[in-house]
Amino acid sequence: MPVNRPTPLQIDRTGKLCHLITLDGLTRTTVESILDRARFHRHQEWTQVSSRPVATALLFCEPSTRTRASFELAAWRLGYHVTNLVPDHSSLAKSETLSETAATLEAMGFSFLVLRHSNPLSAMTLINPLDRPLHCISGGTGQLSHPSQGLLDLFTVCEHFSDLDALTVAIIGDIRHSRVARSTFTALRLFGVQDIRLCTPPGLEPDPGDFPETKLYPLEGALRGVRLVIALRLQRERMADTLQPDTSRYRKNYGLTLERLKLCDPHVRIMHPGPVMPDEELAGELIDSPYSLVREQVRNGVPIRMAIFETLAG
Ligand code: CP
Repeated sequence: MPVNRPTPLQIDRTGKLCHLITLDGLTRTTVESILDRARFHRHQEWTQVSSRPVATALLFCEPSTRTRASFELAAWRLGYHVTNLVPDHSSLAKSETLSETAATLEAMGFSFLVLRHSNPLSAMTLINPLDRPLHCISGGTGQLSHPSQGLLDLFTVCEHFSDLDALTVAIIGDIRHSRVARSTFTALRLFGVQDIRLCTPPGLEPDPGDFPETKLYPLEGALRGVRLVIALRLQRERMADTLQPDTSRYRKNYGLTLERLKLCDPHVRIMHPGPVMPDEELAGELIDSPYSLVREQVRNGVPIRMAIFETLAG
């Protein structure tokens, strides 16, 4: 299924970000202010909560560990109340629409709805009118976007690389189905990263136009001299439209190993949005190696999500 990239109206006429569905259309100034706020939060001791009565609902219609837990922890650290809605035990299971669910939460006084959903248009239906009191945040929207992951990836990159104009990045894996690849690509481009090489097995290529001004590389070409490798999981749950790759062949042809890292810059760093399948896209020994920023990405998810809540709340 081709990925539709509608740009939602998530920014009002004054430039204020009201919802966060994709990173498309955000200015560098807006993103920089989120990163600055995340830096502030990363160095805080979180022993006190504010007394502001802000309520946040988490509605994850697809599985998640990192995104859901870190949005919950971020909300808790800001002193917000959190309600976890379980789709099968919510009125969605009785055919209530997402729009009605959002309107219901808004009527109760919720300020945020964090939504993960397989339908690329799901979150778009919730952000009209733009100035509604309920701010909608994508926790992962189909293959379209995962903006909080894109921002935490950018945050992590900024902590480790000073000259983003000169940074070389290889994104390796199931690019066709990766909303992370799309959001992280958008964020890196906004901050000046030019040399982004895509490497994916036949059949998992993105649609033309999804990654402007990029080329597909064979694995060796993608890795040669590169400073940052972003490895991606095979998203088998989204592969109804493509043939399921054979695991051992994928590991042999595309798996990132210590041996293959020798093609890269000696100071190469590895990122992965998780969940990692050890010894499939990434050798198990690399996950906690000195090359790896995987745990740091997860850690950075909390301050970034705190900064997103604050930015939308204004
Ligand atoms: N990176 C990411 O979205 O992980 P989860 O599916 O565990 O939230």
